[in-house]
Amino acid sequence: MKILILGSTGMLGSECGNVLGQDHEIVAPDKKQLDIISWDGVIENLQELSPDVIVNCAGFTNVDACETEDFLVRKINVEGPRNLAQGSARFECKLLHISSDYIFDGLKLVPQPYFEDDASNPLSAYGKSKAESEVAVRENSPNYIIARSGWLYGINGNNFIKSIISHAIQKKHKVIRVVEDQFGAPTWVYRLALQIKELLLADGRGTYHATAEGYCSRFECAEYVLGKLGIKSSIEPCKMEDIKGSAKRPANCLLENRLLKKQGINVMQNWKNDLDIFLDKFGKEYIKEAKMEKP
Ligand SMILES: NC(=O)c1ccc[n+]([C@@H]2O[C@H](COP(=O)([O-])OP(=O)(O)OC[C@H]3O[C@@H](n4cnc5c(N)ncnc54)[C@H](OP(=O)(O)O)[C@@H]3O)[C@@H](O)[C@H]2O)c1
Repeated sequence: MKILILGSTGMLGSECGNVLGQDHEIVAPDKKQLDIISWDGVIENLQELSPDVIVNCAGFTNVDACETEDFLVRKINVEGPRNLAQGSARFECKLLHISSDYIFDGLKLVPQPYFEDDASNPLSAYGKSKAESEVAVRENSPNYIIARSGWLYGINGNNFIKSIISHAIQKKHKVIRVVEDQFGAPTWVYRLALQIKELLLADGRGTYHATAEGYCSRFECAEYVLGKLGIKSSIEPCKMEDIKGSAKRPANCLLENRLLKKQGINVMQNWKNDLDIFLDKFGKEYIKEAKMEKP
């Protein structure tokens, strides 16, 4: 297959390039080469490249910044996917679009998970834009996959695991406060990229949940990471409402990979198993990076 990856410089997009590139021909332009906001740019590129699949990992992903950047968020997270969906219809290729656990309100009681066909009810501007991106894709692409995930981490880009390590290293003598009332499944982008590969191989269609198995709170996750790496620090649990000035987030981010399981193509692993592998491989690199960063 010839696969066009958007958001190829990002955390998930770069991993998709590595993983899908093992078996497929990859075209991975950066934002300057293909800006998904530009309808003409999208159409010209699809005409020239004629990919079999578009994998859209591009997005405005800073959840707090989304609250004050309405215009840009709509352009990147809604109009961009709509351009790609219409392009996929015109050039008869598949579109795989990444969406988010933040489209839900998180009001289900933990450990009840959200299913693919549960109604969306986002709490934040980011969540709203991702919910609207899904509508844009469904309405415009005849051959789409929407893969919803959450709590992503990987070697490239900013993520929760990285910021916990850097806080603990740089603010050794300060207490780190981490929320204990938000639950989800930390999901390694490498595993998600393998899942995307499986979905494309199986010619999946429709909306899928794809997160790691099991769950934890942010606080439990932070404790686990610091314990595993032997980083001594004092961390303290707090509540989401104590974090002032940030966007509202769902308390329950648990997604059940029901359709992947039903179709026998779920390759997602328990969050702790994947985090162990990840930290064994990259933990030292993260620590080194944190020591070199300016606090
Ligand atoms: N991170 C999470 O925990 C999480 C959870 C659930 C779902 N998701 C979704 O998963 C996807 C990937 O997330 P991520 O964390 O890997 O994102 P990321 O690291 O922030 O990367 C986003 C990518 O999108 C590119 N981009 C931004 N605007 C663009 C535009 N107009 N045209 C083309 N490319 C553009 C960025 O390029 P520049 O760097 O050059 O701007 C970057 O390569 C997103 O759709 C996100 O909403 C993420």
